[in-house]
Amino acid sequence: MEKQGQRCNRLVLVPCPFQGHINPMLQLGAILHSKGFSITIAHTQFNSLDPSNHPNFTFQSIQDGLSDYDASMDSIALIETLNINLVFPLQESLARMMKQDEKKERIACVIYDAAMYKAEAAANYLKLPTIVLVTCSIASRLTHVTYPQLQAEGYIPPKDSMLQDLVPGLHPFRFKDLTIFNLPNLEASLQLIATTSKIRTSSAIICNTVDCLEQPFLAQLKKQYQVPIFPMGPFHKIALPSSSSLLKEDTSCITWLDKQAPNSVIYVSIGSAASIDERELIETAWGLANSKQPFLWVIRPGSVRGLGWQELLPEGFKKAVEERGCIVEWAPQKEVLAHVAVGGFWSHCGWNSTLESICEGSPMICQPCFGDQRMNARYVSHVWRVGLELDKELERREIERTIRRLMAGKECEEMRQRTMDMKVKVELSIGEGGSSYNSLNDLVEHICHSDC
Ligand code: UDX
Repeated sequence: MEKQGQRCNRLVLVPCPFQGHINPMLQLGAILHSKGFSITIAHTQFNSLDPSNHPNFTFQSIQDGLSDYDASMDSIALIETLNINLVFPLQESLARMMKQDEKKERIACVIYDAAMYKAEAAANYLKLPTIVLVTCSIASRLTHVTYPQLQAEGYIPPKDSMLQDLVPGLHPFRFKDLTIFNLPNLEASLQLIATTSKIRTSSAIICNTVDCLEQPFLAQLKKQYQVPIFPMGPFHKIALPSSSSLLKEDTSCITWLDKQAPNSVIYVSIGSAASIDERELIETAWGLANSKQPFLWVIRPGSVRGLGWQELLPEGFKKAVEERGCIVEWAPQKEVLAHVAVGGFWSHCGWNSTLESICEGSPMICQPCFGDQRMNARYVSHVWRVGLELDKELERREIERTIRRLMAGKECEEMRQRTMDMKVKVELSIGEGGSSYNSLNDLVEHICHSDC
């Protein structure tokens, strides 16, 4: 890391400012900090973070021009706007850092979230090396690079009659599992996916995944890229625990969990971006109540379309569940999943939630909503067989049945055993000599030998 008396050990990390992307990027920062790098987080003003929660990092606020942000903007337009607006302010910020750091240390590399693709242009202009962070699964990434071929062969957009069919070359995923399924603006999505899948001049790809979880797809992805791929997750188990929550975590649920029997509680959360409608809220509420299983339910503000959830919860529901249910607006999820009382996770299957659940040996009910969540759900239910798919329209009797299957009986025991086996394999991967452990060391070598 030494060059002409200067330490070349500063890494600038550019997260995509959404919860499911911020968490892995900050965890990666903590991991690389523990390896001796200085970490600067170049963060947009949109969904900004509190630097006081991360005393080991330096923060650079990047002007994103979103002061008149229109909340009705769809996620594609928002990501594109962020990228367009980010490029010059980031370039200026990097140039300032290079000037300030001249005497002590130099920027070794800019690591950017694949969705913040314009960071590569900003770094390139200043001749700084770059590496891409992929926060979704390898399988999702592989589908992204496969779309042009599928499109050329006439598979995209998939016809209704094909939805249950397996995608050629991507078994066991079906057309209905693809990240582009059911999108209102397919062309724009394919365009953005094509842009974010390119690595241009970046010298490597870091993935928050584990070799043992995705071996066949990892081998296929390696054939698609000419640069090294470092699967070195799950980050949250390698980094020291810290919180990068945008919402305040309600820790009262831990006190409630302390009073519950081991493996008795089903934890319910649809993550940071998905939403349900009023009917789905009511079916979920009665499904939980009728299952007679203790539950911890996260109802994030804005996650129920329409009114606030307090007004929508059905009459009689609170009385029916009494102390058996705990509802919070945002939970310390990793702590919840690690709690001895939690026996199952009803999840939207975001990639972080999926990894976090496996790492705590918690079987899942899969209720994917959009994007990569359906692929993750397919992994959980059909490849790893550590969860049950809640595939149909949410309906209280189906929910009740699925909760019972997840939480008790032979099927439950078998799923718990398989999840525990996966947990052990993942732990071996991050231990000395394991695949993620080795990948991390290879990444450090790679950065140190980058041309900075
Ligand atoms: C988004 C996309 O929707 C998803 O498809 C993609 O895989 C990642 O980004 P998101 O809803 O953010 O998903 O889900 P997820 O990836 O699971 O990330 C959510 C994070 O928030 C997790 O790290 C989880 O621990 C945390 N969380 C969630 C909390 O800390 N508290 C909660 O109450 C809920």
